[in-house]
Amino acid sequence: MSSKPVRIGLLGRGTVGAAFERLLGERAAAVEAATGRRAEIAGVLTRSEGDFGVILERSELVVELLGGTDPARGYILDALRAGRPVVTANKQLLAQHGDELFAVARQVGVQLRFEAAVAGVIPIVRTIQESFGVTEIARVFGIVNGTTNFILSEMANTGAAYGEVLARAQALGFAEADPAEDVGGADAAAKMAILARLAFHTPITLSEVAYEGIEAIQPDDLAYAKELGLSLKLLGVAERRDGGISVRVFPCFLYGGHPLAPVEGPFNAVMVEAPAITEVTMSGPGAGGVQTASAVLGDVVSVLAGDAPVPEPLERLPIVTDVASSFYLHLEVADRPGVLAQIAKVLGDNGISVKSVVQRGFGEDARLVMVVHECLESRFAAAVEEIAELGDLRSPPRSIRVIEEELV
Ligand SMILES: NC(=O)c1ccc[n+]([C@@H]2O[C@H](COP(=O)([O-])OP(=O)(O)OC[C@H]3O[C@@H](n4cnc5c(N)ncnc54)[C@H](OP(=O)(O)O)[C@@H]3O)[C@@H](O)[C@H]2O)c1
Repeated sequence: MSSKPVRIGLLGRGTVGAAFERLLGERAAAVEAATGRRAEIAGVLTRSEGDFGVILERSELVVELLGGTDPARGYILDALRAGRPVVTANKQLLAQHGDELFAVARQVGVQLRFEAAVAGVIPIVRTIQESFGVTEIARVFGIVNGTTNFILSEMANTGAAYGEVLARAQALGFAEADPAEDVGGADAAAKMAILARLAFHTPITLSEVAYEGIEAIQPDDLAYAKELGLSLKLLGVAERRDGGISVRVFPCFLYGGHPLAPVEGPFNAVMVEAPAITEVTMSGPGAGGVQTASAVLGDVVSVLAGDAPVPEPLERLPIVTDVASSFYLHLEVADRPGVLAQIAKVLGDNGISVKSVVQRGFGEDARLVMVVHECLESRFAAAVEEIAELGDLRSPPRSIRVIEEELV
């Protein structure tokens, strides 16, 4: 075994960086056994410590755990151009500047690894890039944000409102002080842009991902859904559709038999579907210092062990925006004869058929909760707009997508 240690430049020593430094020390013997090299930290950059130029000079490999796009982008580009392999957990940076970063890595011929950027400890990047590298993937989808999955599970299990559960998630460390990126869907969208690029070999960026968050979900949506045998998840979906691809993030109901339905709390789960593999599901913790550091260390070991493919786009696939979905529709209406018939007519006129309905009376009013079969989203939106204009509606209609398949 070589006695010359690998010197690692560590950019950032926050939650993940500090856990990585600790883990590297604890697993030093295992790293040496796996790679033939000892690994040591050559220098650390934080806001109050270290100089990037000096650290780069001393390092053979750079681990970027700063977060944010700047200055991380410049540091990674400098490191790659200087011939240093880079390991990063920075999803926003890869989702926004992946084209540039991967192009430089390919040009220089050095590795850029990023397992920890998507779905925490789940080895989904490695699986898609390496195990399914030449498989024609049809769809990658799943729960890729632990904060929102914790909030939705808690709302469903306790009946509490969104704001109350968000505060609990923050107190328990499952949500950040500023939760906007998580609850608004931008975090999941960045991860789906990265997965779509890998799965479909196409240069997709964050700006091409349509996303919605969970802020508008009401406790009674979850209560009615329970009656219909549904559970609610914030899903990221990247799929081939109509000769192009669609990449989206949205709250979505799943039936009980779906493999993602039982995934609760701050966990992530990702499914890959392809004709050649049928379907693969992986689940595990979606975040956390130690868990993320473990994925980073796995990448460091891979870099030291040999070559890895740098994602190379084959073609630019068109983005399909109007896709077919099934929907849950929640309506508060006047409890009068003929109202249901009126609503059914609007749906029917738009070619939308109803799968199930729950109706409850509340004095003068009634709540009508239904699930409709798959239809083009533009058609459903048009029908909901017409329904909203019916005189008997007591509040604006609320709708959430539903995945109809019951995979077992
Ligand atoms: N936390 C998780 O569970 C998790 C999970 C998956 C992926 N990630 C990703 O991992 C990365 C790191 O996240 P984290 O939670 O460890 O962040 P964090 O706790 O906020 O730590 C960030 C570190 O970077 C340093 N830093 C930030 N901006 C800097 C600048 N301009 N110049 C020099 N140093 C700077 C900070 O320095 P100071 O110490 O001086 O403030 C701190 O040491 C992010 O890309 C994040 O998206 C995190």
